[in-house]
Amino acid sequence: MAKPWATLGVDMHLEPAGPGLRRGLTDALREAVRTGRLAAGTRLPSSRTLAADLGIARNTVADAYADLVAEGWLTARQGSGTRVADRAVVPPAGQAPRPRTRTRPAYDLRPGTPDLASFPRAEWLRAARRALTAAPHDALGYGDPRGRPELRTALAGYLARARGVRADPERLLVLGGFAHGLTLLAAVLKARGVHTVAVESYGLHVHRDLLTAAGLRTVPLPFDARGTDPVGPADAGAVLLTPAHQFPMGVPLHPDRRAAVVDWARRTGGLVLEDDYDGEFRYDRQPVGALQGLDPDRVVYLGTASKSLAPGLRLAWAVLPPGLADDLTASRGGLDTCGVLDQLTLAEFLTSGAYDRHVRSARLRYRRRRDALVAALADRAPEVRVTGIAAGLHAVLGLPPGTEQQVVRAAAWQGLGLYGLSVFRHPEAVTEPRDAVVVGYGTPPDHAWAGALDALCRALP
Ligand SMILES: Cc1ncc(COP(=O)(O)O)c(C=O)c1O
Repeated sequence: MAKPWATLGVDMHLEPAGPGLRRGLTDALREAVRTGRLAAGTRLPSSRTLAADLGIARNTVADAYADLVAEGWLTARQGSGTRVADRAVVPPAGQAPRPRTRTRPAYDLRPGTPDLASFPRAEWLRAARRALTAAPHDALGYGDPRGRPELRTALAGYLARARGVRADPERLLVLGGFAHGLTLLAAVLKARGVHTVAVESYGLHVHRDLLTAAGLRTVPLPFDARGTDPVGPADAGAVLLTPAHQFPMGVPLHPDRRAAVVDWARRTGGLVLEDDYDGEFRYDRQPVGALQGLDPDRVVYLGTASKSLAPGLRLAWAVLPPGLADDLTASRGGLDTCGVLDQLTLAEFLTSGAYDRHVRSARLRYRRRRDALVAALADRAPEVRVTGIAAGLHAVLGLPPGTEQQVVRAAAWQGLGLYGLSVFRHPEAVTEPRDAVVVGYGTPPDHAWAGALDALCRALP
């Protein structure tokens, strides 16, 4: 039978309670960290010592530690043991909150990353081994600034097949992320005399900031019940869009508007920059094909491995009209290239079918999470209107007017990282503001998803 306490060497009372010892211990430790009874940086006893203290099996302690490491409450490092993570502590009611540091919340529902715990490590390692074994010596040189030909060919084939992109490897550039591509494009557009880029009313401010940093003005496009109205203003030289799955609102660009924006580009000589950040993840129907297929001379297609694999890879790609491909290659020069080993590995990953297999199983995982989210909201927060669920790794939860900030604050108290929709709104947007939160359901590892969902429901009105 378990003893009710352990001192952990820091004179601390710990009472594992509730259903099952592992769950009880995990909850007790989490609570101790959350309330500050276990301070950031505190070294916890080894699982053997704590198990002996509590009179329970060592595996139970090791599993509880592992859960809390995965949730971000603890860190585990070879040589320095298990410690309380350096994160802000939620103070008891009535006590002034300490300033939050840039730390990971216990449950992260901010849109951005996929489930990093499901990165296909073994398949990736096998592909890396095969790729490096087969690579000629000269593959390890500086090489083509557009990227390795193996990867450009593999991507061109994949994008044509899976996304309907008209892709020629000669006009495909391998990039260090979408953000890298946007930075290069902004510089080239500016050098071509463009002053203004039209962007969506809702989007990522980091992307708007990259355009601004290049000396370009961003103007917001109207957003209405049919999504973004993408026809750029007269003085815009380009329009930046997320046509397959508007970020973050989650709607696809209306078919009439797909045609209209291409017409606009043809008429004005402008360019459409298509950000296809999560095009592979559509759940209920066939994916919406790339807009670029309508006019590869006027649409720049940009894709990324950040959602389908992992953002840390820093791998992305652009398929460009001929002149622009040359200008971008010249502007990036011979040294601004991506790591050859990862490029060769991704090429092998694509051609061996491992990428398709991974995307299929990830799609299934995220679909299950989405279904659980929709079911939990219907059950526990029926006032909340969920939209943008047909695709991607996030959903928008519409809230009663005036409650967005309150929900974001309540979420923080539940140890939940969550963004309000207002974070994504262009400062000059004329669209009527709405109260909502954007729930990224990709990030938590599988075992933490139920806890994240529960914390979310507790924060909602
Ligand atoms: C709208 C949008 N575009 C692009 C990206 C990918 O950016 P990167 O390839 O720079 O990681 C993301 C990733 O979160 C995104 O949300």
